[in-house]
Amino acid sequence: MLLKVNNLIKQYQKTGKGVNALDNISFEVKKGAFVTITGPSGSGKTTLLLSLAGLIRTTSGEINFNNFRIDNATDKHLSDFRKDHVGFVMQSFALIPYLTAIENVMLPMAISNVSKKEKIEKANDLMNLVGLEDRKTHFPRELSAGQQQRVAIARALINEPALILADEPTGNLDPSLSSDILNLLKKINNEKHVTILMVTHSPMAAEFGNLKIQLSEGKLINEIKYNSVID
Ligand SMILES: Nc1ncnc2c1ncn2[C@@H]1O[C@H](COP(=O)(O)OP(=O)(O)OP(=O)(O)O)[C@@H](O)[C@H]1O
Ligand SMILES: [Mg+2]
Repeated sequence: MLLKVNNLIKQYQKTGKGVNALDNISFEVKKGAFVTITGPSGSGKTTLLLSLAGLIRTTSGEINFNNFRIDNATDKHLSDFRKDHVGFVMQSFALIPYLTAIENVMLPMAISNVSKKEKIEKANDLMNLVGLEDRKTHFPRELSAGQQQRVAIARALINEPALILADEPTGNLDPSLSSDILNLLKKINNEKHVTILMVTHSPMAAEFGNLKIQLSEGKLINEIKYNSVID
């Protein structure tokens, strides 16, 4: 198992009253899985992704990633873990406006020891993978929404993460661009064996998963597994 979540609880303290945003959640994810996470607004989807990335501290329970305990790791270990193993894709793309597409893609490698030449080669390969070989020097404002999300996906892949965490990656896109992006994620999942956890409101998008998790009020209320994937 790549990821094991056991009895995870996240309680936010707000105005003295505790809210269990995650209420005793357990599930397992095999390497190479495409997991989709659905549920109403406020059901804990973003909280779950942030917890898995170690970006927020959980209240109790365990998160194991390849035997690395995310829930009680130090900040330093967590930041190394994110840099080495996790790519993020958000609804709002979060591109840097004054960097070109390819510079945005290279950004996460800024602090790595890789040579400039190798960085450019890797970024070029990813621009090709996401179908933007002719948009490398465009600035974000010169790209369509779907193209901007492709740049964000290429950026998420640059450090060769084992895990992609995507929070509503198609939330700002119209249906046809959404299915382009979902097909791109599926291709990355198939070809690069990157494990993907994707939060979505769209039932159509949820169908892209081979493990579908449904949350309601912080609880995991349904889990549907399709074809088995490699361990
Ligand atoms: N920083 C915070 N402090 C206090 N409560 C929070 C905080 N972040 C989230 N919550 C609460 O935790 C619950 C889960 O929030 P979360 O953002 O995980 O929901 P979500 O499923 O991602 O919703 P959406 O679909 O609207 O993005 C909500 O009730 C929310 O109000
Ligand atoms: Mg959310």
